Amino acid sequence: MPASAYEQRPNLRPVNLARDKVGSTNDRQKSKRVERLPASDSDHSSHFRLAYRALLLVTAGASERDAVQRAAASDPRLTSVKREALALVLGTVSEQDVIDILVRNGHPDEKMGVTTRCLFRLTTYAMLRLGAKGQTRRIEHGLRAIAPIELLPKLEFFLGTLPAFDTTQMLYGLRDSERVALQTHHPVWWVNYCFRVFGRAEAVELLSSRTRPRYLRVNSLKNRGKTTLPKELGVLAERLTKVPSTPGVYTVVGSLSDFAGFFSSGSFQMQDLASFLAVKSGAPVPGEKVLDLCAAPGAKTAAIAQFMRNRGSIVSVDYSSRRMKGWRREVQRLGVKIAEPMISDVSCLGLRDSFDLVVIDPPCTGTGVFDRNPRMKWHLSPQSVARYSILQHHFLESAASLVGERGRILYCTCTLTVEENENVISAFLKSHPEFETRPILEQYGSPGLLGLADCRRFYPHRDRTAGYFIAGMQRTN
Ligand SMILES: C[S@@+](CC[C@H](N)C(=O)[O-])C[C@H]1O[C@@H](n2cnc3c(N)ncnc32)[C@H](O)[C@@H]1O
Repeated sequence: MPASAYEQRPNLRPVNLARDKVGSTNDRQKSKRVERLPASDSDHSSHFRLAYRALLLVTAGASERDAVQRAAASDPRLTSVKREALALVLGTVSEQDVIDILVRNGHPDEKMGVTTRCLFRLTTYAMLRLGAKGQTRRIEHGLRAIAPIELLPKLEFFLGTLPAFDTTQMLYGLRDSERVALQTHHPVWWVNYCFRVFGRAEAVELLSSRTRPRYLRVNSLKNRGKTTLPKELGVLAERLTKVPSTPGVYTVVGSLSDFAGFFSSGSFQMQDLASFLAVKSGAPVPGEKVLDLCAAPGAKTAAIAQFMRNRGSIVSVDYSSRRMKGWRREVQRLGVKIAEPMISDVSCLGLRDSFDLVVIDPPCTGTGVFDRNPRMKWHLSPQSVARYSILQHHFLESAASLVGERGRILYCTCTLTVEENENVISAFLKSHPEFETRPILEQYGSPGLLGLADCRRFYPHRDRTAGYFIAGMQRTN
């Protein structure tokens, strides 16, 4: 089954609005005995097996990608189906709201443990999304092959009830935002937020946006100083398409594992177009001193070093030593020679230097990257937005005193909330009249909201990028 088939997600229609509580762990122990003999891949059992194990890890707090990596690392037979399994995991987690309603309908009275819940979620997603392609029997077979033996009777019952759901009447009686929430698989608070800030029509477009392209940039630091495609790519070059507006950036289709050699040699870096454009807007040039705050795992550090042609200096700060290990691997792989790591909390840096450019890429709610981290949709709340905006405001304050004469600040986030973007910038400008916004990236994206027209916003449905916000500021005296 090609992964593209997994990526097609027609709108689901939910049965009712009953919500399940997160399952108890009463059958977690049993899951130790989860799998029996591997069935052949023609019934998707390897994909399902890896996706099921990964879903259990996601439920325990792992990110979708980490979960698939970790689950595959523990069973070499499954490494070849990582991509398909990831598509299943992302789809299942993304559509969890509606899926849980269907699961609840299949087992209305049951106190469900984590292993059962994950199995039924995966079953529901697979049957709805793949079953429609006339493969129901093979899918059922694959699901039976991965089910813990003690769950088989429940699975049989569940499989029997799934097709019986009437999926046509379910949205009746719901408020508009509740209906849109279920149709687009978002929490109601976020739908209401988007209606309020972007208007209903634009919000529906945004919330309905499908997967964006995967972007990679050619790393000139490892490509004889050039951003053109390495000749050695041969026929693989056909899988890359130039982004016309941005030399050196390409969209890629198909499996990335075919490019593994080019990634490990540092020729390429996966980076969303908006994230790359953020660095471009900061206009780092050779010889400058750059402070990169919240730097791990190093995507921006590496792009900054490319613009600086490895001349000058970058201090990259992050408080997570675990994530900074990833940063070290990245800068080494990508041939960055001018960056120095600093493990520190940004709100108490203790630096006395001044810098030509300070980059701030703070933690945020990530509402612009729900497609890649769908579990975040179900964890966030309006309170999360408020909490992150306070943190972001503090980080910007810490940066101000480190910006040299005529120096710049680049502030960016992968979220679309006004509180974490325009409000943070407006409050900063109010308390720091020595800074002004600079116009940036005028031919890309859309202007910032609340009159901050110099800033740029990127929307998945309009720009085919992550949802992103970028502000450039300069010290004027
Ligand atoms: C959006 S990510 C940064 C991505 C990175 N700039 C890149 O391009 O690869 C946010 C980072 O902020 C870091 N962080 C969060 N709170 C921090 C703090 N108080 N001090 C330093 N780093 C922090 C996190 O560890 C995380 O790595």
